[in-house]
Amino acid sequence: MVALKVSTGAALLGFVARSLAVPVVSEATTTFSAEATPAVVPPDVPHTNVTSHGPYTGTPTTTGALLTDVLAASIAPLPPKPNPYPSDGELHAPEPAPYTPAGGTDTNGTIPDYKVKSDFDYESIALGLYQEWIELDLFHWGLATFSPEEFEEAGLTAEDRYLIEFMADQEVGHATLLSNILGPSAPVQCTYNYPVTNIREFIDFCQKLTRFGESGVYGFLNHLDAHDVGQLLLQSITTEARQQMIFRQFEGLFPMPVWFEVGIPQSWAWTLLAPYISSCPANQTRLAWQNYPAVYILNQPNPARINGSSAWNETTGPYTNTLSTADIKPEEDCSASKEVGVNCSPAITRNRSEPLSYPGRQVFLQWDEPGKPIGPNNSYITNTTVAQPTFAAWVTQLNVTYTPLQNVSDNTAYTIQPNVSTFAGDPGINGTMFLVLTDLDLYVTPYNISMLNPHVYGLALYQSG
Ligand SMILES: *[C@@H]1O[C@H](CO)[C@@H](O)[C@H](O)[C@H]1NC(C)=O
Ligand SMILES: *[C@@H]1O[C@H](CO)[C@@H](O)[C@H](O)[C@H]1NC(C)=O
Ligand SMILES: *[C@@H]1O[C@H](CO)[C@@H](O)[C@H](O)[C@H]1NC(C)=O
Ligand SMILES: *[C@@H]1O[C@H](CO)[C@@H](O)[C@H](O)[C@H]1NC(C)=O
Ligand SMILES: *[C@@H]1O[C@H](CO)[C@@H](O)[C@H](O)[C@H]1NC(C)=O
Ligand SMILES: *[C@@H]1O[C@H](CO)[C@@H](O)[C@H](O)[C@H]1NC(C)=O
Ligand SMILES: *[C@@H]1O[C@H](CO)[C@@H](O)[C@H](O)[C@H]1NC(C)=O
Ligand SMILES: *[C@@H]1O[C@H](CO)[C@@H](O)[C@H](O)[C@H]1NC(C)=O
Ligand SMILES: *[C@@H]1O[C@H](CO)[C@@H](O)[C@H](O)[C@H]1NC(C)=O
Ligand SMILES: *[C@@H]1O[C@H](CO)[C@@H](O)[C@H](O)[C@H]1NC(C)=O
Ligand SMILES: *[C@@H]1O[C@H](CO)[C@@H](O)[C@H](O)[C@H]1NC(C)=O
Ligand SMILES: *[C@@H]1O[C@H](CO)[C@@H](O)[C@H](O)[C@H]1NC(C)=O
Repeated sequence: MVALKVSTGAALLGFVARSLAVPVVSEATTTFSAEATPAVVPPDVPHTNVTSHGPYTGTPTTTGALLTDVLAASIAPLPPKPNPYPSDGELHAPEPAPYTPAGGTDTNGTIPDYKVKSDFDYESIALGLYQEWIELDLFHWGLATFSPEEFEEAGLTAEDRYLIEFMADQEVGHATLLSNILGPSAPVQCTYNYPVTNIREFIDFCQKLTRFGESGVYGFLNHLDAHDVGQLLLQSITTEARQQMIFRQFEGLFPMPVWFEVGIPQSWAWTLLAPYISSCPANQTRLAWQNYPAVYILNQPNPARINGSSAWNETTGPYTNTLSTADIKPEEDCSASKEVGVNCSPAITRNRSEPLSYPGRQVFLQWDEPGKPIGPNNSYITNTTVAQPTFAAWVTQLNVTYTPLQNVSDNTAYTIQPNVSTFAGDPGINGTMFLVLTDLDLYVTPYNISMLNPHVYGLALYQSG
């Protein structure tokens, strides 16, 4: 006898609560099996596994971010909120129930409805959904585009390819979850274009795209009005975090070279994502976030090289600044070596004797003017309120560290990679991180990093390790 109970709010999200009658058995057995319970399987959101690809060439029917009345040019800073709670390890209020310390948000028994509760919530979840959609397409596209032989040549076996396939399937779940939260106006799947011509460029692009996908969510998760929605998103983004690490392993990089993962504002994530969306259907829900101008890291470290920092103009374009393998000679290719410290073929972990970057490194930058069409149907326009950038902000782990831009001329400059630590023993700058051009060295911390937005000119991913 099987009781199957689906509660209304939960059904929307695909939760199925069921209670199973436990059979009485006289003896312990390791081979007992009950008749399989017929499960109610909630449907996936409509999607195709691989869409058409290539840049958009038409004329958009609308342009610009979603917009309403704007009250001020920026948000004024306020002093910290008073916090009288004595953090002394004692209890300071009656417990509402046994073993239940007082306090917390949404802990009074209210049933969650898993609905967005503000424009901030809607726009953040919609951005997350745009991200899930591109990942779904990208992972399938890679599998469909490159042959098993090409994957084998890059050191990726049939089992590795199954893992990529599984990651694509995870995205179906994430896209379904976020679509259900938003309802009928949820953004749907679009078509895309990727700055990738071979497997190693594909893996590097996946590793970078999942980095801003993950960090984009960490930036807003704890600011959502709907904490119940945040809970579900958290349980998706922790999966995404694993995907990012796996792509690093596929690339032969040290899998997690930091102690903390960084969070970034929504407009930074949208800036990095939009260039790879070609077009969306006519009635697609639009986003309110900013698209900043492109930044090129002229000597972006190239993880496919034995000496990764010895790279000049070796990306396939701005924004993600994904690696290009085009100019790597066989003797410079780390995947061709079997030597420990040099070999960068796929592995659980790799040491790299020659680091991709180092404190004191001169980093050469170039940037575009604003006003350029970008994103779905070229229907968004890059914009910044900064006239001339003067600082590079190194956004990594828990820190935003500024270094001055030097020799600024004709939209180019260089800056020097700083030496930052979070805590003793953890050099701050490592992994796939964010390099942001600003006109002010504003002091911001992880929970108010979006206060920097009015001072941002543009941004890029920097492959520091
Ligand atoms: C997508 O691919 C999976 C296999 O990975 C397959 O089961 C599914 O039917 C495909 N979906 C569509 C919409 O083609
Ligand atoms: C329970 O908490 C919610 C959210 O924190 C609040 O909106 C609601 O008023 C509270 N209900 C009661 C009965 O206190
Ligand atoms: C767009 O049109 C489709 C098909 O008519 C509809 O299902 C969907 O809800 C519409 N989306 C929005 C955001 O209006
Ligand atoms: C990043 O971390 C790895 C692993 O600890 C280390 O080998 C590498 O030198 C670090 N890179 C930088 C730039 O600190
Ligand atoms: C984007 O392009 C698609 C495909 O050509 C078209 O159906 C859609 O209406 C366009 N949307 C906008 C906003 O221009
Ligand atoms: C690696 O490249 C950097 C930058 O070009 C250079 O300074 C360094 O000497 C190189 N290291 C080796 C071992 O060749
Ligand atoms: C980088 O390479 C591209 C393509 O080869 C070329 O068009 C561009 O001018 C180069 N940029 C610099 C700064 O060298
Ligand atoms: C890997 O790098 C670490 C840190 O530099 C070093 O302690 C360790 O000995 C290296 N291991 C191998 C096998 O090279
Ligand atoms: C950029 O945004 C500002 C503020 O919203 C606006 O006044 C300006 O016209 C925009 N510039 C461009 C090039 O779109
Ligand atoms: C920066 O400008 C100074 C003065 O014009 C020049 O001497 C120096 O070589 C430049 N540095 C770089 C890295 O271009
Ligand atoms: C960076 O700072 C740390 C901590 O102060 C120090 O141990 C290390 O030598 C510095 N590295 C460089 C390259 O200056
Ligand atoms: C980086 O952030 C950590 C944690 O907030 C802080 O302890 C440290 O002082 C910061 N480092 C710098 C150079 O700002």
